[in-house]
Order: sequence, then C-alpha cells, then structure tokens
Amino acid sequence: MAGSGASDPNRTLGDLDALAAAAARTIEQASTTAELERAETATLGRRSPLAEARRALGSLDPEARREAGRRLNDLWSSLEALVARSRAELARQERVAALVADRLDLTEVVLATVRSPLRRGHRHLVSTTRDALEDVFVAMGFQVAEGPEAETDWYNFEALNIPPAHPARGMYDSFYLEVGEPETVVLRTHTSPVQIRLMEAAVAADSIPIHAVIPGRCYRRDTADASHLPVFHQVEGLVVDEGITFADLAGTIETFTTAYFGPKVHARLRPSYFPFTEPSAEYDITCTLCLGAGCRTCSGTGWLELGGCGMVDPAVFAAVGIDPEVWSGFAFGFGIDRCAQMRHQVADMRSLLESDVRFLRQF
Ligand code: PHE
Repeated sequence: MAGSGASDPNRTLGDLDALAAAAARTIEQASTTAELERAETATLGRRSPLAEARRALGSLDPEARREAGRRLNDLWSSLEALVARSRAELARQERVAALVADRLDLTEVVLATVRSPLRRGHRHLVSTTRDALEDVFVAMGFQVAEGPEAETDWYNFEALNIPPAHPARGMYDSFYLEVGEPETVVLRTHTSPVQIRLMEAAVAADSIPIHAVIPGRCYRRDTADASHLPVFHQVEGLVVDEGITFADLAGTIETFTTAYFGPKVHARLRPSYFPFTEPSAEYDITCTLCLGAGCRTCSGTGWLELGGCGMVDPAVFAAVGIDPEVWSGFAFGFGIDRCAQMRHQVADMRSLLESDVRFLRQF
C-alpha cells in the first residue's frame, strides 16, 4: 500500500476512510466483551490495516503526510471512542445477564415440589466436619464440652496468662462487647477460655483428671480473605492428669491426624509460643493436596498449618488452683473450618459463610 499511495495522497485518504469504516463495522459486530477484545486487536492493534497505514505515512511527501496524518489521528480517536462505548454497553449487558441468571426465586420451591420431588436439605459442611472431629476424639476417650461465646477478659485472656497489655493480645484482634465496669467482655477469640472453665469446675467438683474436647465458634477482627474469616470454628483439646508428658501430646495429635485425614497424612510439631502453654508448638499436617510432595497450596513445603498446642503452663494451673506438682497436662486448638477446607479442597474459606446453596449442595 505504501507504494501505491505514496504519490497520490487523495487515494491514501480514500483508503483510510474505507479502512476506518470496515474497522467500525468489526467493532460494532462484537456482541460480547471477549469478542470486542479481539475486534480491538484486529482493528487498532499493531498488525491492523490502520496501523500499517500509519507506518506507510512516512513515505508520503511532507504536505500530504501532514494531511493524511491528521485524518488518520481523527479516525483513530473516534474508533477508540467507539470501542470504549461498546465496552461499557457490553459490560452492562453482561452484568444484567449474570444477575438474572443468579437470581434466587424464592417462589420456585413451590413450583419445584409440584413438578419434581422435593430436594432434601442437609447439614452445613462446618457442622458435619465438627461432628466428624468429635467422633474421632470421642473414640479416643475424650468428652465433649462447650462454653459461652461472650467471655470476660479473665477467661479469654488473664487466666490464660495474658494480662492486660501483654504483647500476645496482639495475636487476638478482639471484638469488645463491653469495656471496663463492671467487667470487660469480648467475643471469645479462641476456644481456650473453656479450658479455664473446665479446670475450675473440675477443681470445685474434685473431679480431675480431665480429657475433653471443646468445639465452638470464635471471633477475630480479621478481614475476610480466602484463608481468614472474622467468625470461625475451633476445636480445643485439654488433658489434665498425673504424669502427662509432651510425648502424650504428640501421640494424641498424630493419632487424631491419621484417624481424621487418613493414613497418608501425618502431624508435625514446630516450636512456637503461646502464653498459656510451655513448651508450645505449632501443629502442621501433611499437605492434603500434594501429600507432602510440595505444591502451590503449601508453598512447596509439603505441610499445612492447622493450629497450636503445648503443655499447660504452670501459671494457668495457678489461676485455677491446680497443683502443678501433682498434675500436668496438655492443650491444643485448631480450626474446624480449616479441616473442612483441607479435606474437601475448598479454595476460598468465605464460601463457608456465604450460604450459597450451589456451593453447599456439593457436600
Ligand atoms: N488458642 C490458640 C489460638 O487460637 C491455640 C492453642 C490452643 C494453642 C491450645 C495452644 C494450646 O491461637
């Protein structure tokens, strides 16, 4: 084209109008945003006829080049404006279509019962996971206990060896229900306060030893993302008896892990810190996706973090009046939602809170 138009600027300008008209048709024919993307590349991309024409301007004489260049720039901007308008309109149409497709018709249930048998509901994934976890621990000789979700500062923090202004409070970004008088009350940030309640009750009833698991809902002021929820579920374990050692803790954790996740998944304990246990450990399990080989979910380590554990700190025994010279114990706590996520490969934890039946029906 450069050769044919070089000597005849008018012809070049004529060509430009024809090219622009063809480009406009291609853009207008796009009926989805994906098609529009392709139309834009075909008409305004580096290999488009118009881009070629722009490159050919160089071979025109200066006067003709100026004129053709101006014309080409005008056409180019109006085509860009056309693309922008189409994009906005197509995006709007696609959003409307998505909303219509997603619409939940609450009267549909009535019609469905007429046309087809009623679809039976079932329990939520978190509830069935909690039950399955309880079953494993009950089979190991644990009792199941519960405690309140609104806790005083004493149970949630102080009795657990986390006095006011202790740096560990930073680990627990709390929702406060009441501050100060008569008491500070928080939505419990973990199930560990129930340890204190169980130990107090056992001291009062003179009924130590304790072998208990405590499932329940916890709250932290975390923003929800794919792996964190502001409302989540934990299961706490507490054993207080004579002669309990770290080996009992490690054995219990490993027994639970293979029983719940299957024989290919194992437990690993890594040194860590919690104010209410000493020594403390982080509890990891073999990555359930790659079984230890290393993958994206476990950042190539082969392990996934599930919770924390350790030997009950003497300061905690002191808070509830248990003699650490006679008794020793261990505790652990880990995420129920995490267990559900790992066993069923749930990509985004927020799905557990959103109550979207299309997600929940899969389990
Ligand atoms: N309560 C700790 C947490 O939620 C977990 C834990 C429980 C650690 C019991 C040790 C012992 O972070």
